[in-house]
Amino acid sequence: MDFQPLKYIYKPAGNPEAYTLLLLHGTGGNESDLLPLAGNFGNSLNILSVRGNSEENGMPRFFKRLGMGIFDEKDLDFRTDELVAFVKEATIKEGFDANKVIALGYSNGANIAGATLVKYPDFLAGAILYRPMQPFKEIRSIGTIKEVPVFITSGMEDPTVNPEDTDTYVNKLMELGFAVDFHNLPTSHNLVNEDIGLAAAWLSKNFTL
Ligand code: MLT
Repeated sequence: MDFQPLKYIYKPAGNPEAYTLLLLHGTGGNESDLLPLAGNFGNSLNILSVRGNSEENGMPRFFKRLGMGIFDEKDLDFRTDELVAFVKEATIKEGFDANKVIALGYSNGANIAGATLVKYPDFLAGAILYRPMQPFKEIRSIGTIKEVPVFITSGMEDPTVNPEDTDTYVNKLMELGFAVDFHNLPTSHNLVNEDIGLAAAWLSKNFTL
């Protein structure tokens, strides 16, 4: 199968030095969904918000799943390559810095962001993973020596994620050399104000925006 382009919205910050926030929605979302959330992080970031190319009963996703929390890893592998190729092309078309892309993914979007970290450990400058799951059962990765900052929040009451699996995933990312900032919040799969406040503080601590 050939790579397909992804539908997207690009909003330039108007500064050639700017970081770009790559927004990756959850199942059933689209490229408009996370724009209001990104608005909480100020106006100094370019925004590249994309729609997943996979579909489940009319709901956009970034890759196929075989059941709740059971991923079609072959499709995930392909879609991760497709996403990275697309973002690389967008850096040229839209003229933003390829070394300054920070992913922000929610749920299914966090999972393809995690797959990107694993497969392309030095591609992203950082990543915000809201309610993620380990993307591949076996993580095979060369890792990074750059201590790429990764922010993760999970929900203590989230019925879709096993807390021990999240701990295992966080530890694996740290073993691979990522500098993980992990918060387990007293909430469910939905996002809460703390997800935004903590991520905003993490962004300003780790990046000169
Ligand atoms: C979802 O509903 O999107 C799942 O929790 C995560 C996934 O399928 O990637």
